[in-house]
Parts: sequence; structure tokens; C-alpha cells
Amino acid sequence: MESFNMPDDFLWGSASAAYQIEGAHDVDGKGASVWDEFVKIPGKTFKGTTGEVAVDHYHRFKEDIALMAELGMKTYRFSIAWSRVFPNGKGDVNPLGIHFYEDLVDECLKYGIEPMITLYHWDLPLALEKAYGGWESPQIIDDFVAYALFIFEHLRSKVKYWITINEQNIFTSLGWLTGIHPPGKIDEQKSFYQVNHHIFLAHAKTVMAFKKIDPEVKIGASFAYSPSYAMDCDPENAMSKMDFDNLRNYWWMDVYAYGRYPKTAFSYLEKKGIAPVVTTDEIEMLKRAASLIDFMGVNYYQTTVTEANPLDGVGPNIKMNTTGKKGSSSVSGLPGIYKTPSNPYLSTTDWDWTIDPLGLRYACKEITSRYNLPIIISENGLGAFDTLQDEKTIHDDYRITYLSAHIQEMMKAMSEGCEVWAYCTWSFTDLLSWLNGYQKRYGFVYVDRDEAGGSLDRVKKDSFYWYQKVIQSNGKNLM
Ligand code: BG6
Repeated sequence: MESFNMPDDFLWGSASAAYQIEGAHDVDGKGASVWDEFVKIPGKTFKGTTGEVAVDHYHRFKEDIALMAELGMKTYRFSIAWSRVFPNGKGDVNPLGIHFYEDLVDECLKYGIEPMITLYHWDLPLALEKAYGGWESPQIIDDFVAYALFIFEHLRSKVKYWITINEQNIFTSLGWLTGIHPPGKIDEQKSFYQVNHHIFLAHAKTVMAFKKIDPEVKIGASFAYSPSYAMDCDPENAMSKMDFDNLRNYWWMDVYAYGRYPKTAFSYLEKKGIAPVVTTDEIEMLKRAASLIDFMGVNYYQTTVTEANPLDGVGPNIKMNTTGKKGSSSVSGLPGIYKTPSNPYLSTTDWDWTIDPLGLRYACKEITSRYNLPIIISENGLGAFDTLQDEKTIHDDYRITYLSAHIQEMMKAMSEGCEVWAYCTWSFTDLLSWLNGYQKRYGFVYVDRDEAGGSLDRVKKDSFYWYQKVIQSNGKNLM
């Protein structure tokens, strides 16, 4: 690559989510979330792991942020646990809950770390699920906006970057199609699209409300973008790519950026009787919000290959690899439309996630050409087994190789015309990997705990010192 100078104000950072790190699940007045309940169902998570303690960030945030400062991080993306602030999702506020996030923000600012807040990273207050079915009811839209506005009023003088929803595509697919996340429903396609419509409206109303109060604020959603490659130039496979993109990628990104659903995908859903009910006023609202968003948040982990799928072909209900035993996941698809075989050109992680640094450049270029929006890479990282040696070292050269290759592709994308504001690795410390327990590690900082528990001591991995140099050199020193 020709030499490329990163902008001086580029935000190098890391990201996390409340349920995966905070712990303190019932401490200081926090209410339960759907995840607090879901993890108790036998067989749902690897070895029955929960986030009850997680990595105890709630009690150790000062230590963690001091480590971020030592590393030199410019931004820290974290999420707010809605039920820590509103134990019942709405109504009475838990003062200790909002104080925690005020303290967290202040601690970041103390070290010059730009806080980036995600308002929703999957931990819906359980009370709202019980009251009206959570996202299945349009009632949630105003409850979400009220919650978001409360947080905004308290933190807006200190926080510039806001992410409304994390990976709407993932938590709704896993929650309503494959049933492996809460609320654990299987193949409820009609609910899936209606739920998504409610989330789009909650996002849109939040964007409009924030911008009305402060037009200078930077706001968008974070999408789990898996760019697709057609298996080959067989026209049937090329068409499967087009349909995959419309149904699995543009379905979300077009709404965020244009305020409209991809037409052919909508028509397909209408014919099947599973399209969401959408009013003209709602489309107007989505369009208004789309004209106001500042960036596309992208969580990038892997690309997808698409191939034609017969009508009696494989469905979405896949076997996921949650154990780290390579090759234990299965191909998924949409009968009659596409299936997603593995990519023979690429290697995979122990959890069968395809490793494709170039895909990050592809993602940035696609977003730039299609939406002409700045980009925040809000997540990118490698889940791997790490081994603690001598109680104080972890040689995670594989993570360095992975991240370095992705950063290079991001920089190439920037040199080719993409405007990227931030790059957040997933994650800063090791954390609970939802269904995969604690053995799938993502951090620069090792946390001494496994599925059964541990001391929770923090140990800096080799990648910690590597990322420190990357940031110090503003991306020049990647090895
Ligand atoms: C993203 C999520 O899907 O990927 C994170 O936003 C998650 O919350 C990350 O942890 C990695 O996924 P997993 O399943 O390996 O933890």
C-alpha cells in the first residue's frame, strides 16, 4: 500500500457491552434483563455460564479505564444496561444506576478518552418483556425513546458519539428465527420482521429527538455487516448474492441510511405474508431520521459466501459452534433463495468464523459507494483460546496478526476514499461471549476467570503492548 497518513483525530479504541462485562446483576437496585433470565435455562449457554459476575467491571471500572489510558486508547465504546437505570424499563429511576454511568464517563474523560455510548446492546429490561412482549409490541418504541432521552439529558454535555442499537440484525435473527438468544423463538418470520420494524422506529425517533436537542451530536446505529461473495459466476449464484444482500444486509442499512426497505425483498416478504405492517407516516419518520444520521456503525467479523438453495434446501436453523471445536457448525440458508457455504479460500477461527481482512475494506467501500456516509468500525476482533503463562504473560501473536491485517485493509479503504472516523476492537478486556462462555477470549487484557470463576485479576497480553504502539504511531507501526 502507498503510504497513507491517518487523520490526527482518528479514534483508536475498543468496545464492550454491559451484560458481557459489568456483572453486579442485582446490585445497587439494578432490575433484571432478559439475559439474566435466559442464561438460567439449562442448555442455552456453554457450560451454563452467566453474566452475573462477568468480569466485574461494575466494581473494577477504574482499574479497567486506567489500563485503557495506559494503552493510549482514544475512545471507549460501552453500552448502558437499561435495567440498571430503569429497573422496570420505565417509571422509577434507579439513582445509583445513572450515577454509575456518570462516573464511568467522568473516568474516561479524566484520561482524555472519548466515551462512545451504545444505548441498546441486547439486555432488554425483563419487566418490559413480561408486560407486553418487549420488541414485539409497538409500545416499546416510546419506552425506548424515554429511556434514551433520560440518558441523553444526563450525559450529553460530556458524550458526543451515540449508537442507538447494536446489531439489530443479529439479536433479532437469533431471538426470533433460530431461538438461541432471548426470547428464544424459532422461525417466527412474521414477528421477526415486525419486531425489526419496531426497532427501526425506536431508532428513528431517538435520532430525531437527540438531533432536535443538539444538532451537533453524532449518532447512528451499529450494524453487523457481513459482505457477501457469490460462490461463482453461475447466474443462479449471482442472484442468490443479490437476494442475500437485500434480505440480510440492505434490509437494515437501507433503512438506517435511506429510510426505506429494499423493494424486491419487501415484495418477496409480502408474497409470503410475512412483511411488516408499515404506514406512510412511519416511512416518513424513517426517512427523516435517515437524513439525520451521521455515520454507519459497522461491526465487522467475517464475510459470507452465497449459493443458490433449492426450495427444500437448508433453513436458518443452524447448529452454532459454541464450544471452540472447529468444524462443528453447519451451513444455513433460506430455502429457495440462498445458502451460505464456507469459503474455500479463507481460514476460520476455532469457532468457525471466517477470517477475511479484505472483507473489511469491501464493507467500507460498499457503504461509502452506496450510502456516502462516514463509518465507525464499532467492533472487529478475534475470539480465541489464550494461555496464561507464568501468571503474567499471554503470547497472543494470532490476535496481533488478525488485527494488524484488518487495520491495514481499513487504511487501504481510507486511501481509496472511505471516511472512517473510528476503529474499535472487540474487546478491551476478556468478557462473557454470550453463548460461548469465557473461554472465547477477545481482549487485550486477560481476565483470570473461566466458566467456574476465578480471581478476576487483569493481565496485559502481548497484544496490549502492540496496540499501544499502533496508537502511538497513529497506525504507522502495525507490526
Ligand atoms: C458481536 C456482538 O456480535 O460480536 C458482541 O456485538 C459479541 O456482543 C461479538 O460478543 C462476538 O460474538 P461472540 O458470539 O463471539 O461473543
